[in-house]
Amino acid sequence: METSTSQSTADALDKGGILKNKIKVLKKMYPHTRSVLLPALHAAQQLYGWLSEDAIEQVSRLTGVTTADVKGVVTFYSLFKTKPLGRHVIYLCTNVACLIMGADTLEEYLGKTYGISHGETSADGRFSLVIMECIGACDKAPAMLVNDDCHFNISMDNIQQIMESYR
Ligand code: FES
Repeated sequence: METSTSQSTADALDKGGILKNKIKVLKKMYPHTRSVLLPALHAAQQLYGWLSEDAIEQVSRLTGVTTADVKGVVTFYSLFKTKPLGRHVIYLCTNVACLIMGADTLEEYLGKTYGISHGETSADGRFSLVIMECIGACDKAPAMLVNDDCHFNISMDNIQQIMESYR
């Protein structure tokens, strides 16, 4: 009978193998090692759900970019997750254009409804909230991403419907 420890070790080995193959394919698509870094990190995050120290080490080893440089890139981009987050990640912009158009009210709604503020995950693990500086949709403010989905012109009239579409 297989124990849960041996099963999780096998899963980690499988994922390590999958990541190795993905990065091998990526290396053929990009002219320089450093160019592979961003897609390699996205691949690792997709595979593991977030970028742990171990995942960062793997990407470093497989791309040949130093661990320090990989960490520098991971911590620079807010879309890379450095800790486990909820099933759905809300990236809410609260920069000037969005703030003027009511992002603070939306942030308050998310706090009251799901019990989350910046960097937190709801008790049921459904949502995490990340406050963003700008997501490049200032003309459609207020704006947010939920996972990879863009939502624009959000208001108190439509936020509930948007949020409830993510279970
Ligand atoms: S200020 Fe919110 S998208 Fe630019």
